Amino acid sequence: MRIAVVGTGHVGLTTCISLAVFGHDVVGTDVEEEKIALLSKGVSPFFEPGIEDLLKQEMESGRLRFSADPSVAIPGAEVVFICVGTPPKMTGEASLIAVEAAARTVARYAEGRTVVVEKSTVPAGTAQRVRRTLVQERPEMADGFEVVSNPEFLREGHAVEDSLNPDRILVGAESEWAREVIRKVYEPLTAKGTPLIETDIATAELAKHACNAFLALKISFANALARICELSDADVDAVVDVMGADARIGRAFLNAGLGWGGSCFPKDLQAFQRLSERLGYPFPLLEEVTRINTDAIDSVVSKIEDALWNLEGKKIALLGLAFKPGTDDVRAAPALALARRLIELGADVIGYDPEAMGPAKAEVPDLETAPDAYEALLDAHCLVLCTEWDEFKHLNLERVKSQMAYPVVVDGRNMFEGTDMEAQGFTYYPTGRRALK
Ligand code: UDX
Repeated sequence: MRIAVVGTGHVGLTTCISLAVFGHDVVGTDVEEEKIALLSKGVSPFFEPGIEDLLKQEMESGRLRFSADPSVAIPGAEVVFICVGTPPKMTGEASLIAVEAAARTVARYAEGRTVVVEKSTVPAGTAQRVRRTLVQERPEMADGFEVVSNPEFLREGHAVEDSLNPDRILVGAESEWAREVIRKVYEPLTAKGTPLIETDIATAELAKHACNAFLALKISFANALARICELSDADVDAVVDVMGADARIGRAFLNAGLGWGGSCFPKDLQAFQRLSERLGYPFPLLEEVTRINTDAIDSVVSKIEDALWNLEGKKIALLGLAFKPGTDDVRAAPALALARRLIELGADVIGYDPEAMGPAKAEVPDLETAPDAYEALLDAHCLVLCTEWDEFKHLNLERVKSQMAYPVVVDGRNMFEGTDMEAQGFTYYPTGRRALK
């Protein structure tokens, strides 16, 4: 099928590549010409494991092309995916300016019957607005446009595998014709058993918010438990293992730590809150989920203060700056929220991350950076493990201790073993377990 993808960010580029892998003829377009210039050379504008190899492979196969010119990308496409950003406004609501602009562009250049797929995360009701925009722009095509909601569930750092092997495909559509077109798009996945869930449009839009809110709630539940475990001599990891052994609960997304960040959870939770208020059923549980997440940072600050007393003039090394391992994305990264707090409190903060150093420095200019973990730890009074990159598991603890001014470790992701830390003589503050001091 001939498919156009509008927006080539994380979701858009992954969509372009996976659709090409499924055998479709794909053209990606973006208003950011620099992005298209990079992509046209086979270079990904962001770090994502495996994405560049597949990008090159699909471009060489001839199935995937990019053009900054929508008059090249859109005409002739049976299906157009809208994958533009929906950043939060000051109010917390999702800004839909880019979605509207994309809809206008699609309307202008579409030829013949076209299924317009909303893949960006948007509040329930957006598809109707998109449809209205399409028809306002091209009244003569009123019967030619079908809007479909097809939310994306991919995780950064696993974007390629998640889009090539999703748990499920969700499609909200109104007409059998549109449903049939989308079945054809995803036939290579459904043929190998991936479930395709078909709903109405509002249900699909809402389901995406519900999934992200529930995942964030699971993490915040574990983080609240962690605080209680620290006060009661229980072990949060063991508690969540017990919970996870119950098939009704499941173990995933119950890891206590520095909390959740990234480009989706914080913005989607806020947008869901605002949507529920607007609809007349406020959802204060979501506010509490966010409060507990902020509390996870406060808890780490308290541990550092417990170990170091005053922070003025103390050097604190943060290992891991990305919002999670496997990405260079620092949007709403808990490590950066912590860095800002510690800098405010007068500490000298130095950070190291295998991928995210440039973006982190751009976000927090007062954050010093080091070329590797050991360098960051030189004369540090405290090490805070913020992001659980694999390479930190293999640190030589003896060398770490010999380089630090004080042997204090605050483990924001429970990556180290308490027994190893004790054996090396560290003062060790894990998450959700009593400190060893
Ligand atoms: C998330 C959703 O998982 C994905 O389905 C959706 O499409 C986009 O948002 P992503 O933002 O890539 O994906 O990150 P994810 O892997 O879900 O992690 C989110 C945050 O939660 C990270 O900061 C991570 O460190 C944190 N996390 C995750 C925990 O603190 N504990 C856990 O148990 C799991």
